[in-house]
Order: sequence, then structure tokens, then C-alpha cells
Amino acid sequence: MSTLLFGALLIGAFAIMVMLQGDPLSDYRRLFLTSSAGVRDEDTFFVTFFGVSSLLFTSGNSSILTDGYFSRPGKQKLFLSKIAPNPTVIKECLDRVDMAKKGLEAVVAMHSHFDHAMDSPEICRLTGAKLVGSSTTAFIGRGWNLSESQIQTITDDDEVVRFDNPDGSAWELLFVRTEHIELPSLLGFIAGNESPILTDPLVPPVRMGAYPVGDCYSLYITRIFKNGTKRTILVQGSAGYVPNLLSRPHLPKVDVVFLGVGGLGKKPVEYQEGYWREVVEATGAKLVIPVHWDDFTRPLTKPLQPPSRLLDRFDRTMTFLEEKANSTGVKIRLMDSWVKVALFDEVDSILSRKDM
Ligand SMILES: *[C@@H]1O[C@H](CO)[C@@H](O)[C@H](O)[C@H]1NC(C)=O
Ligand SMILES: *[C@@H]1O[C@H](CO)[C@@H](O)[C@H](O)[C@H]1NC(C)=O
Ligand SMILES: *[C@@H]1O[C@H](CO)[C@@H](O)[C@H](O)[C@H]1NC(C)=O
Ligand SMILES: *[C@@H]1O[C@H](CO)[C@@H](O)[C@H](O)[C@H]1NC(C)=O
Repeated sequence: MSTLLFGALLIGAFAIMVMLQGDPLSDYRRLFLTSSAGVRDEDTFFVTFFGVSSLLFTSGNSSILTDGYFSRPGKQKLFLSKIAPNPTVIKECLDRVDMAKKGLEAVVAMHSHFDHAMDSPEICRLTGAKLVGSSTTAFIGRGWNLSESQIQTITDDDEVVRFDNPDGSAWELLFVRTEHIELPSLLGFIAGNESPILTDPLVPPVRMGAYPVGDCYSLYITRIFKNGTKRTILVQGSAGYVPNLLSRPHLPKVDVVFLGVGGLGKKPVEYQEGYWREVVEATGAKLVIPVHWDDFTRPLTKPLQPPSRLLDRFDRTMTFLEEKANSTGVKIRLMDSWVKVALFDEVDSILSRKDM
């Protein structure tokens, strides 16, 4: 067979493979949580996902946003030029969820990379929310002229920040310093893993690597309802971990972990096992919702999709998580962007169901 013919056959086979592959999420559609927008109980704890680790938690007239990231510049801009918050896109996204009426108390940056912290000051400016995070995140706020009264810097280990609502309900945010996932060296370098912490305001536009990781947190979010009942969830923005950190006895146990999985699919299985042990097992979570699995160079007006296999292996991540789920009884669920879920209604109904 001539080389030419062989090449043509190979390209044909590849094209057919891509065609057959179709929806890259088809194997996982059964795991997606559905909208509970119809639920009207005003105390209900709702969560809405916007890709990466952007999560909006709402209860009553009060909300907390982690890692608000809406600008999502495309690949060319991200890799080859400078980036900045896009106020038009941010405003459109906030309007789409009626953020102005959500009583946004805080925008929390889990660490200071662009996809976690870049948009935060603009969201705070538009909503009056406080920017809460590391000293590096604070300098990102100052670079966007956010006033000091709107910036709260986490300085202590296991620091708790509390927001009280007039009806007696409250939020408690507990910040545990952890490690960011180690990225392959070139990717780590361009993503800002090697950059030192900020000691001066960061004024965009800048290259993405100008957003250093800064301090990186595991964030416990506790909702204290007005009747005194508490429910706690954990947000793990990056798939890094520190052994024996989250199993310390004074830390709360949680029902749900929003588990950052960016880069996890490229890690050896021993690393994945360690991550599960230290973040899921150690916290007692019964439901795991993977986050940071999407290609963050696609705008939020398009459906979420896993990134290219060159960057991550979402399929390997999901196989690992489903195997763990099968052997431990912990449940795995995914969220689509913009879908508003009554989280604990889901938790209670999933955990009482035996079949899935
Ligand atoms: C307290 O309020 C929450 C939110 O409405 C509710 O889910 C929970 O069942 C209540 N707890 C008790 C003990 O009534
Ligand atoms: C939320 O605000 C509305 C309008 O101000 C008020 O009627 C309602 O009671 C508030 N709900 C809670 C849970 O605070
Ligand atoms: C911040 O203030 C400086 C100096 O007044 C101004 O040049 C800059 O445009 C402001 N940036 C933003 C995002 O408003
Ligand atoms: C997990 O269990 C389900 C149901 O028994 C099965 O369909 C699936 O293939 C299993 N997945 C893995 C990765 O073991």
C-alpha cells in the first residue's frame, strides 16, 4: 500500500472517530443535576454553576460567589496577548441571574490565578459585594480601584469570615490554606504558578502569568438557617491537597464537596487516590460534584465542554471518580452552566435512592 493511501485512510479513520464521538459529554449526561428553579421555599439553599470553580450559593436574600469568572477570553487572546476583565460580558452574566437582587455578600477567590480572581473586583464593583481572599487577591482588587472597605484579606490559618442576615440566618466561610495542583512545568510557568505573590496593585491588561497563584484555599461554606439548622459544603477550587489537612478534628464534616478536577486526568492514579482520600474521604462527603472540568476558553453563552485531550483527560478523571463512587457509595453528579439546583433537596433525594 502506498504511503499516500495509508495517510488518507488514517485521516479518514480519524474523521470518522471524531464524528462518532459526537457529544463529548454523552457518557455523562445521566449524571447531570436538573434545574429546581420551580422550588419556591425562600430559605432553600440554591447553587448555580458557571464553569471552572465559579459557584453561586443563594439562600433567602443572601448569596456568596466563589471565583466569579465570566470574561473567559479565547485561546488566542489568552495564550498570545494580554487579558483583562470584560465589563460588558460580566454585566450580561450578572443580569442573566439577576445578581443585583441576590444580596451578594462576598466574592471569594480560592486562589489568584486569572480564572479564579481576575473578574472578582469588577463583580464586587457592580454588586457592592466584598472581595475576600489572600493578600495577592487584595492587590488584584486594588489594581481595579476597588476601595479598601470592599476588600477583606485572609491572614490567619483556618480563618472564619461571617456574614449575618437580618432574619437571624448567616454564612460562615472557613478558609484552610492548601496547595495548588502542580502543573507540568511549561503550563505551570505560563499559568503563573512560578510567579511570586503580589505586593503591588496588578493593573490589567496583563499576560495571564501575571496572576500568581497566591495563597490557595479549601473553603468550607456553612449556611446557618434562621431556625438554627446548619449545613456545610466544601469548595476545592484546585486539585491540589496537603496530607492530613482536612481530617483535623476541629474542621467540620460536609455533605457535599465541589471537587476541582482541573489537571487531575493527567495525574497518575496514586495521586488521584491521594486526592480522593484527603478531600473526599477525610471530609465525610456523600456527594461529589466535580468542577473546573470545562474548557474555560469557551464563552459562557455556549454549552460547557471538556478541554482538549492535550490539556487534560476528563474521561480518565470521570472513570476514576466513578470507580471510587462504585466502591464507596459516594455519589457523583455534574452541573451544567446556569442551572439552578436546590442542593440539599438533591442531596437528600440522591442519598435516599439506592439504585444509582
Ligand atoms: C430549618 O430550616 C431549613 C431551611 O428551611 C430546613 O431545611 C430545615 O429542615 C429546618 N430544620 C428544622 C429542625 O426545622
Ligand atoms: C427578602 O426580601 C424581600 C423583599 O425585601 C422580603 O419580602 C423577604 O421577606 C426577604 N426574605 C428573607 C428570607 O429575608
Ligand atoms: C483606576 O484609576 C486609574 C487612575 O485614576 C484610572 O486610570 C483607571 O482607568 C481606573 N481603573 C478602573 C478599572 O476603573
Ligand atoms: C460503576 O457502576 C455502574 C453501575 O453498576 C456501571 O455502569 C459503571 O460501568 C461502573 N463504572 C466504573 C467506572 O466502574
